[in-house]
Amino acid sequence: MAEMKGYHVAFRCFRGCPGEWSIYDVIYTCPTCGGLLEVAHDVDALRGRSAAEWKALFESRVGATSWPYGSGVWGKKEWVIPTIDDANIVSMYEGNSNLFWAERLGKQLDLPELWVKLCGNSHTGSFKDLGMTVLVSVVKQMMTMGKPVRAVSCASTGDTSAALAAYAAAAGIPAIIFLPQGKVSPAQLIQPIANGAHVLALDTDFDGCMRVVREVTEDNTIYLANSMNSLRIEGQKTVGIEIVQQFDWEVPDWIIIPVGNLGNISALYKGLKLLMDLGITDKMPRLVAAQAEKANPFYLSYKNGFTEKVTIQSSETLASAIRIGDPVSYDKAVQAVIESGGLVEQATEHEMAEAATMADLTGMYTCPHTGTALAVLYKLRSQGLVQRNDRVVVISTAHGLKFTPFKVGYHEGTLAEVESQFANPLVYLPPDPDVVKKTIARRLEASSFAL
Ligand SMILES: Cc1ncc(COP(=O)(O)O)c(C=O)c1O
Ligand SMILES: [Zn+2]
Repeated sequence: MAEMKGYHVAFRCFRGCPGEWSIYDVIYTCPTCGGLLEVAHDVDALRGRSAAEWKALFESRVGATSWPYGSGVWGKKEWVIPTIDDANIVSMYEGNSNLFWAERLGKQLDLPELWVKLCGNSHTGSFKDLGMTVLVSVVKQMMTMGKPVRAVSCASTGDTSAALAAYAAAAGIPAIIFLPQGKVSPAQLIQPIANGAHVLALDTDFDGCMRVVREVTEDNTIYLANSMNSLRIEGQKTVGIEIVQQFDWEVPDWIIIPVGNLGNISALYKGLKLLMDLGITDKMPRLVAAQAEKANPFYLSYKNGFTEKVTIQSSETLASAIRIGDPVSYDKAVQAVIESGGLVEQATEHEMAEAATMADLTGMYTCPHTGTALAVLYKLRSQGLVQRNDRVVVISTAHGLKFTPFKVGYHEGTLAEVESQFANPLVYLPPDPDVVKKTIARRLEASSFAL
């Protein structure tokens, strides 16, 4: 297989054990220590292009139609999987999501430089598309090479399965999905069903599904698509790079992201670190991991100074996609928090719902996970840790439309542990213009507009 400009890429042990494996081999963990692998790039070879050349190249590809560079992920192909054949790439032109200037919400927080990266504005409605395009493309290449893989499989809290099912269906590869019964939203559940995946609902939680999929994929013909597979991280890492590019290569002060299995924050760090290693940026934003209080093992680990990994049995939370008690990418996420001078904070059900609603009232439409990140921002801002002139990016990981029961429940005032202060119930009226006019007048009188 001809390698793009000679750029080499391979799996290596994240903890540094010796050895290197082809990314087209079926291998997920280090044979020596059992830890996570990572996709290692030849950074010296990448330094053969100057910072200015990389920037110009990536900028030239935004909005391009030439396959596959119009994708926000494959527009950075040399940094993702340089060796893959373009013909095997399975892409929906994911990435290049908008970085929204949350001007009005920022005013309410006295934080003029508040930005929200809308990763949910994508094909399957969450940031998972970024990693799945990479994984499914590599699988397609493996199949073309005659490797024994015949299906892909994942455990999921909803969004991973939607992304896997869509990309697998686009490639014509069978997908086997394990979901925790009754613990994903209706919109998330119907996505893999619609895409023709084999959807298996297990009577357990996400961690239970994860244990099953690990066993099922010990058979090399069924390829593991969870973020334990570091191919996913390669695609997801472009989100940090994309944010910096959208700020004309300036680095924000903070990036806040809701976390569960901890693949996303690991990926964010990896992309931002590569920018520094290539001399394109000279600092790292402080990375903040936001957890739901009901599923907070990473927060507890942080509180014990990362002396040991805490695992818990997670409880029911509105932020169902981050309901994970035993996060797989723990080691990588610890590095991301420590090396970036970041931190971990948590939010209660009430805090996340109120934060999401406040954002909605300024024109966004936030999922509960984004609400978790926003609630953490409100805390850090009120503690003065995030300062007025800081530039802050909150990563919105999914589209609010995937979580309709959360929105409806909030405005009907039926969510557990949430007081719906900003509930906006429907107004039922007779079709009588007089009554209608009086009602409108009364409501406009009562509402105060903060411009
Ligand atoms: C909407 C949403 N936000 C955040 C996360 C957390 O990402 P990670 O599991 O990589 O920490 C997930 C997936 O688990 C998700 O679906
Ligand atoms: Zn190892």
